[in-house]
Amino acid sequence: MASRAILQRRKGISVISSARWMSSWWSNVEPASKDPILGVTEAFLADPSPNKVNVGVGAYRDDNGKPQVLECVREAERRIAGNMNMEYLPMGGSVKMVEETLKLAYGENSDYLKDKRIAAVQALSGTGACRLFADFQKRFKPESQIYIPVPTWANHHNIWRDAQVPQRTFHYYLPETRGLDFASLMDDIKNAPNGSFFLLHACAHNPTGVDPSEEQWREISHQFKVKGHFAFFDMAYQGFASGDPERDAKAIRIFLEDGHLIGCAQSYAKNMGLYGQRMGCLSVVCEDEKQAVAVKSQLQQLARPMYSNPPVHGALIVSTILGDPELKNLWLKEVKMMADRIIGMRTALRENLEKLGSPLSWEHITNQIGMFCYSGMTPEQVDRLTNEFHIYMTRNGRISMAGVTTGNVGYLANAIHEVTKSG
Ligand code: LMR
Repeated sequence: MASRAILQRRKGISVISSARWMSSWWSNVEPASKDPILGVTEAFLADPSPNKVNVGVGAYRDDNGKPQVLECVREAERRIAGNMNMEYLPMGGSVKMVEETLKLAYGENSDYLKDKRIAAVQALSGTGACRLFADFQKRFKPESQIYIPVPTWANHHNIWRDAQVPQRTFHYYLPETRGLDFASLMDDIKNAPNGSFFLLHACAHNPTGVDPSEEQWREISHQFKVKGHFAFFDMAYQGFASGDPERDAKAIRIFLEDGHLIGCAQSYAKNMGLYGQRMGCLSVVCEDEKQAVAVKSQLQQLARPMYSNPPVHGALIVSTILGDPELKNLWLKEVKMMADRIIGMRTALRENLEKLGSPLSWEHITNQIGMFCYSGMTPEQVDRLTNEFHIYMTRNGRISMAGVTTGNVGYLANAIHEVTKSG
């Protein structure tokens, strides 16, 4: 038996060593680099300047620069108030919300819906839907990779990285024309190994605001068919490209007409202004109902250890709005109103720059669509905008047109002119 002194020594030693271990638990952790989009908002909030302008994050603002809660959302909240309990939703989320959401993507009278061939679950907005799909891809196609457009929303890279799906890229944007690099895009589709996974932006491409035309989508879909590729659509901006959610679903409908079994991430952050409610949906079109039941059960199983089940309040808002023809109409009007205000700001920004005598062409501001303008400004020019004019945007030159207002468009144009006039 060990003596008391020995025991104490042992105790002492273990106290010292555990203290040493405890103090070094996280000594290997370095501060994470700032998020290229949300980090811009942090810097904006920290700036005391009264002139500051935030055209960084893609979040809609009204013409006074204030976040807007849609009238249809306010009305849905009035109807819900006092009538809801706080019970858990099922793992797959609100069945009613998912049903209504699928109609938006696949069409009110879609045969895929009638035949119950779509596996779908409520997701934590578009990010959550993409992540769930990436995890699903990893689990059931472990050898597969994902082809991602260049450029894309920065978080796409994080999502597939954390799901441990290897990434490849494909050409999308041509800086010289500030438009689509269609020829290279088609080459990349042709050259990818048969049966590859591709991430496509369904409409209002983020960050470029450049979408393929209907004819080009048909060619893309055809080539996907030839190669047996899988198209995963991220549709974060349905309604923001044209002002009409039905029109903005065109790419998806073309792929469906061609018989593709696609996947789709939907989000209500932008088009219903439900940013913080984290409302979205992941769907996967299957061969038949039996397969859809299996796929849905696996998606739920992926969700369970991550967050168990999704939030209920936003789901009720969405299902209340889309389930009531009057509220749905109001929503459609409000989506159009937001899209139109952005289109108006594109014209105003371009006109202001031209009036200032800018030697550069700003045609792309009005040619590009959706929430963003991919201005072509360099990171150094963006840094000057921030440091000299307190204008905050991502360093890739993306301007969130949703943050441009009649009050700040002149100031913004002037600053852009100043930093770009000498080339
Ligand atoms: C954006 O691109 O600014 C938005 O989608 C917000 C985000 O989460 O990055």
